[in-house]
Amino acid sequence: MILAAGLGTRMRSNRAKVLHRLDGRPLINHVCRTAASLAPQKVYVVVGHQGEDVRAAVLEELNEEHTEFVLQREQLGTGDAVNAARSFLQDQDSTLLILSGDVPMIRPETLAQLVQLHLGHRGKGAACTILTVNLKDPTGYGRIVRDEGGRFERIAEQKDANEDERAIMEINAGIYCFETMKLFDALSKVQNDNAQGEYYLTDVPALLRSAGEDVAIYKHNDPHEIDGVNNRAQLADLESLVNRRTITKLMLDYGVSFIDPKNTYVSERASIGRDTVIYPNVRVEGESVIGDACTIRSGTRISNSRIGHAVEIRDNCLIIDSSVGNQCTVGPMAHLRGNSSMADRSKVGNFVELKKTKLGRGSKANHLAYLGDATIGEDTNIGAGTITCNYDGKHKHPTEIGNNVKIGSDTMLVAPVKVGDGAATGAGSVVTKDVEPGALVVGVPARVITKSGKD
Ligand code: UD1
Ligand code: CA
Repeated sequence: MILAAGLGTRMRSNRAKVLHRLDGRPLINHVCRTAASLAPQKVYVVVGHQGEDVRAAVLEELNEEHTEFVLQREQLGTGDAVNAARSFLQDQDSTLLILSGDVPMIRPETLAQLVQLHLGHRGKGAACTILTVNLKDPTGYGRIVRDEGGRFERIAEQKDANEDERAIMEINAGIYCFETMKLFDALSKVQNDNAQGEYYLTDVPALLRSAGEDVAIYKHNDPHEIDGVNNRAQLADLESLVNRRTITKLMLDYGVSFIDPKNTYVSERASIGRDTVIYPNVRVEGESVIGDACTIRSGTRISNSRIGHAVEIRDNCLIIDSSVGNQCTVGPMAHLRGNSSMADRSKVGNFVELKKTKLGRGSKANHLAYLGDATIGEDTNIGAGTITCNYDGKHKHPTEIGNNVKIGSDTMLVAPVKVGDGAATGAGSVVTKDVEPGALVVGVPARVITKSGKD
């Protein structure tokens, strides 16, 4: 069960907390992916605030067939959230693992160990197993109060804890295993007579214990895994933690160089090849793939794109949903988008924009051009200032340019239009009609000067 109904008041946001992004994905997606990796029979997701959006985010990770959405109408506390699923679960002889939608770093291995420990106790009657960890600064978390024998006694929430309890370093991670029927039995006894006037799930373990049930603790040793996100400062801390881990791994295991790791962002889902060097202030987002021996200069953003081997990307480029072949040069200040592609050894330079455009092998567009909805062949040169006039005010039209073409500086290609292999256009020409292979056209509108470019 994943608890994700809260608004997250401390985020001071109009968006539900679990929809805020960590490493480019909503918090809830991280938790759902981890839950899915355990292959549970069913995942119950308790939704409330912006339930429809949360549901959509959940279904990006979880199979609809194995997912049950439970609506918590009013957010009366974590105990009330679990209680919203009573009709589904109260009669089930099963084990329920409860996760928080705002604890995104928890690893599947840790959860598997928690479940294993709990099930190990099952024969001996453990009704509940709590995941805990020691924190240097436990502020904000529920504290684990143990008796003189070191056994679990109860959980004291931050706002209800006295001074002695606040000094306890061991905290409740908000992740538990319960025997389902025992959980729902105890849950009906939970009251809201506490500092927050809420029904706390954290009262259940103590209720079970006083009913003579066994409550176990699985004390974990990685404090970051259980980091909860309650405010934007904590979210930013986690963001840099995830990023630092990703970059360290790329350096140590994959042989990637970073000039300034602290000022570089790489998505956990991206991959980068050996001997590639990444300069400061580069962002590699989403599922981008960058090959070996590339150089990516400062100020560049690469999002959901593929970059081949030995590519040089100069400063301040934007490459979105596009691909760049091997040994290409891009930038400075180039913009690729809308599924554009550059074939091997092609070049796109200063202030050139490619939208939904294919640039062939060895072709070049080095200065100040807009190439949209265009297909360009091999070894063609696009002169400075060239524009594909692809939009007539209503529709977008394609431009096709062949192999070995020379498009003169400042040519306007009024689409739809085709320029054949080996053709050339004069500087400043406005091409409104298809150009035959080998022809030279000049002027406004462009007229044929020679039928063969070689004459
Ligand atoms: C909770 C625990 C605390 C623990 C901490 C770990 C309680 C009472 N306290 O505190 O002991 O140390 O997590 O991170 O459980 N939610 C709902 N419906 C509600 C209230 C909350 O679905 O009515 C969801 C939230 O969306 C969130 C999760 O439950 O994903 C935890 O709620 P939150 O308010 O953040 O609890 P904490 O104060 O962090
Ligand atoms: Ca929380």
